[in-house]
Amino acid sequence: MSLNVLMVAAEAAPLAKSGGLGDMVSASSAALRQRGADVSILMPGYECAFDRARAATPLGYIRDLPGGDARLWRAAMPDSDVPVLLLQMDHLYAGRGSGLYQDATGREYIDNFARFVSLSAAAARIATGVRGVVRPRVVHAHDWHAGLTPLFMKLAGASAKSVFTIHNLAFQGNYPTALAPYAGIPSGLLNASPDDAQSIEFYETLSFMKAAIVYADRVTTVSERYAREILTPRFGNRMEGVLAAHTGKLSGIINGIDDDTWNPADDPALAQPYGIDDLAGKHACKKALQQSYGLHVDPFAPLVAIGSRLTEQKLADVVCEALPAALARWPRVQFAILGQGDARIENALRRLAREWPGRLGVHIGYDEDRAHRLHAGADILLHGSRFEPCGLTQLYAMRYGTIPVASRVGGLADTIDDCPASEDGTHTTRANGFLFTGEHASDVFHALGRALGAFAQPTLWRALQRNAMKRDSSWRVPVARYLDLYRSLTQGQIAPASQVARVSGNAVARKTNPARQRRAQAEVRRSA
Ligand code: ADP
Ligand code: GLC
Repeated sequence: MSLNVLMVAAEAAPLAKSGGLGDMVSASSAALRQRGADVSILMPGYECAFDRARAATPLGYIRDLPGGDARLWRAAMPDSDVPVLLLQMDHLYAGRGSGLYQDATGREYIDNFARFVSLSAAAARIATGVRGVVRPRVVHAHDWHAGLTPLFMKLAGASAKSVFTIHNLAFQGNYPTALAPYAGIPSGLLNASPDDAQSIEFYETLSFMKAAIVYADRVTTVSERYAREILTPRFGNRMEGVLAAHTGKLSGIINGIDDDTWNPADDPALAQPYGIDDLAGKHACKKALQQSYGLHVDPFAPLVAIGSRLTEQKLADVVCEALPAALARWPRVQFAILGQGDARIENALRRLAREWPGRLGVHIGYDEDRAHRLHAGADILLHGSRFEPCGLTQLYAMRYGTIPVASRVGGLADTIDDCPASEDGTHTTRANGFLFTGEHASDVFHALGRALGAFAQPTLWRALQRNAMKRDSSWRVPVARYLDLYRSLTQGQIAPASQVARVSGNAVARKTNPARQRRAQAEVRRSA
């Protein structure tokens, strides 16, 4: 019997994506299905998700979620066979413009609490059984938006096991404790005493992230190094103490990438395809990138890409500061920048583009095809980060033969092998990029200098490119680790005779059985 897993997330590409979370949820689900697991995804029924999904069919209603009644739809991804359950609550998810979490001015939607409490509550309902949906044995929730799922499952007495993956600990979903009754969270779970192991109170707030860490059966992060880093005050975002109390269930599993979507040999966005043994296509892509960014067309100019959210996480403020010195110091170097984020950083980059015509080009916005062309056309990817749980961008760049220059943190340090100073490309090493320590403009500048030094040595550069392009960033290994994790949780469990729960009437699921709910709540309190 195949293992049934329900992923719960606020994003799944291409239906909805604001960053790597959306890529990871969809790509890991597809890869798990290829290995025989019966995976589906539950996500909010945003308008963009309904627009992009295939064959959406209504399943029924889930009544009385904290945010009201929801209609549940089953649909398919446009580019894979992963089934998607769309939670339609138009007052919460539709009519919001393009931002998944924020309006056009960057302000968080005022009802995000209701939006994501409802998502987690719906997941817990499905875990206890709704008509037409196979009851999952594992519910795998991602990031704070789905963070209340494990707690709601326990309160509802669900027998399914829960896994929670931290993609970014900086976003925790901390809300006023006064909102607890709205979410159906018993006040006994908001005890401020640090000795209360069941409490989800966190610095006088109700914390989705803490709830997930406390109540999930297993907690993972998206790289091994980040799993260690978040136990320290520098990276723990004040959650290090909570995590330290749960290290027994914490582990790191590095992300893979969808190597069909990100494949230079077969990428419809590119001017010309290419592969590891024939880089002619990459040269054509470089020329096209220079043209599209208004840069001098020069095949020998080192072309540096920056492609990310323009935020402090990505060190974008510091990179901006380093750019004028780099442009002045290396007269041939060029920069092509794609991103959006902090208005201050966006404006600083626009200013630099005006000051350095032909040398620095900027595209402010979110553009998936352009991101593919950026990774294909560039020689170097400059990827600073104050912290990086995994980072997919450097993996995409490496697959496209673009050498990363990145901060020595989290998943960047786990996936990039730093090129030693003595390396000249004549012996086989694993080097595939450059790592730097520090958060100052001078750190970025020096690291870039090392990469440009290597770029000037064709034998070395070719070796770095080969190593980067050969790196196995597929989901093969990570998926095996997730499967082991799921199996370790479900081993010995007796599968219910019928996996499909039956409930009467038109409703997909009614409110959780009150007696069972009371019993489960008492159990949670007793084990405190
Ligand atoms: P994070 O999720 O922290 O932003 P990742 O490197 O894991 O970082 O994932 C970022 C994802 O978002 C990648 O798929 C990257 O190509 C994409 N991305 C980021 N900014 C843009 C943009 N402006 N246009 C297109 N894609 C972008
Ligand atoms: C988050 C992290 C990023 C990671 C992505 C997917 O957005 O910031 O490092 O790659 O999630 O797991």
